[in-house]
Amino acid sequence: MNVSFLLNGESVVLADESPTVTALDWLRETRGLTATKEGCNEGDCGACTVMVTDPDGSSRALNACILFLPQLDGRALRTVEGITGPDGHLHPVQQAMVDHHGSQCGFCTPGFIAAMAVAHLNGDRDHDRSLAGNLCRCTGYAPIIRAAKAAEDAPVPAWMTHDRDFFLPEISAGGSSSRRVDVGGRQPPASAAMQPTSSDALAAAYAANPAATLVAGATDVGLWVTKQMRDLGQMIFLNRCADLQQITQNEDAVTIGAGVTIARLIPVMDDLHPSCAAMLRRYGSAQVRAAATIGGNIANGSPIGDGPPALMALGAVLHLRQGDARREMALEDFFLEYGKQDRRPGEFIEAVTIPRQADRLRCHKLSKRFDQDISAVCGCFSITVMDGRVTAARIAFGGMAGIPARARHVEAALIGQPWIAATIDRAMQAFAQDFVPLSDMRASAGYRLQTAANMLRRYFLEDTGQTAGIMEVQP
Ligand SMILES: Cc1cc2nc3c(=O)[nH]c(=O)nc-3n(C[C@H](O)[C@H](O)[C@H](O)COP(=O)(O)OP(=O)(O)OC[C@H]3O[C@@H](n4cnc5c(N)ncnc54)[C@H](O)[C@@H]3O)c2cc1C
Ligand code: FES
Ligand code: FES
Repeated sequence: MNVSFLLNGESVVLADESPTVTALDWLRETRGLTATKEGCNEGDCGACTVMVTDPDGSSRALNACILFLPQLDGRALRTVEGITGPDGHLHPVQQAMVDHHGSQCGFCTPGFIAAMAVAHLNGDRDHDRSLAGNLCRCTGYAPIIRAAKAAEDAPVPAWMTHDRDFFLPEISAGGSSSRRVDVGGRQPPASAAMQPTSSDALAAAYAANPAATLVAGATDVGLWVTKQMRDLGQMIFLNRCADLQQITQNEDAVTIGAGVTIARLIPVMDDLHPSCAAMLRRYGSAQVRAAATIGGNIANGSPIGDGPPALMALGAVLHLRQGDARREMALEDFFLEYGKQDRRPGEFIEAVTIPRQADRLRCHKLSKRFDQDISAVCGCFSITVMDGRVTAARIAFGGMAGIPARARHVEAALIGQPWIAATIDRAMQAFAQDFVPLSDMRASAGYRLQTAANMLRRYFLEDTGQTAGIMEVQP
């Protein structure tokens, strides 16, 4: 059988499940593990949170509702039933939730416990951040946060680290380079899947099946199944392509593999461009950041994705691969028009490269909620000033057009000009030449244009040591 993983300490091998069955449905309907709950079924509420341990021994909280079974292959899964000790002993976070009255109706509680147990295991004490993806409708968050704090210093129970010993070579090494998961059993084979284990194997598999659906973190693709009931046909899972998950750095550039998750990108950006890291910390929730990849964030061509504007402002180069042929392009050239990218049949994103540069990047994400919200406007600015004059400017936005786009007229209005307030006033007028934004449920066109221009003024004020007078939610 082709999908093997550890479930609450017990080895599981699956041969007869469709690759589009989610971990949540399988746990509840096939295994009768009903503690893990279905709330939104789209990654927004955290009721379905489970703990997944990867072959490198690291553990993360993931939303089981948008996690397909093949994504668990070679990994270890713990639900709240397995977070309780084998002898029924409560985990310290469970005991703390009891002690601090952290649960009323209890619907959200298993998801909170899974997220808290992962944070406890990883020594993560930023509870507001690690629990921002878990919604509670009745208890209120204060007792839950109190419980998380109370458990901070309790030792990690032994059973929570057992999974790390599980990684048997025959399971975690991934088997042959491109394995077919034959489907059948409960569901007829509407979908079939391949799991290549390298970029080469992916290139061969995709070239031979150019109509296949690529699945990376499934934070978009998962919803195509759970919300749109789409038949995905042939699927190719990218999660075992180790070479797509590499981050390589030299003195000229940093190259980020397409399979690098947003969570792994954050510490890299902390070192290089902290404003981008701060923005990425507001990307979805901990569960979403632990699944979503930068390749998926670019490939989906979303006009409101947070990764592309920051990368475009940094002058990122995209690496595409089709069979043995590779090509490169400036990231902004990849986005042609709404829903259309410059990607050929059987071609995939292999990596994105950021040239090393002095850090002049500032990123601003405007959304209705601080956490777990899609941007209304995402503006990213990198402006170089020498001897009081603007020598270079790269400004890119999400939420202002049908694609992530550079503000070329604004850039032109800045370059060569003195770095003074009058230049900013003139450049702010140029936003209307660059963008004709939409009005939608997130923001009106007028709000978008005004806030985008105001971000430029803020950049100038902060850069010249003046107070911007921004009222901002502090993390
Ligand atoms: C609750 C929730 C909150 C979210 N919040 C945010 C947010 O704050 N900011 C934001 O920007 N996005 C957000 N998203 C959207 C989503 O997380 C991103 O678009 C994500 O980066 C997609 O990456 P993935 O790895 O999950 O892609 P997948 O869902 O696996 O794939 C997305 C698309 O990219 C294709 N693809 C994936 N990898 C490759 C590759 N290497 N080459 C070619 N094609 C590829 C797939 O075929 C598919 O078409 C959110 C989503 C959810 C569910
Ligand atoms: S059910 Fe809401 S995040 Fe999964
Ligand atoms: S305890 Fe009822 S939703 Fe949280």
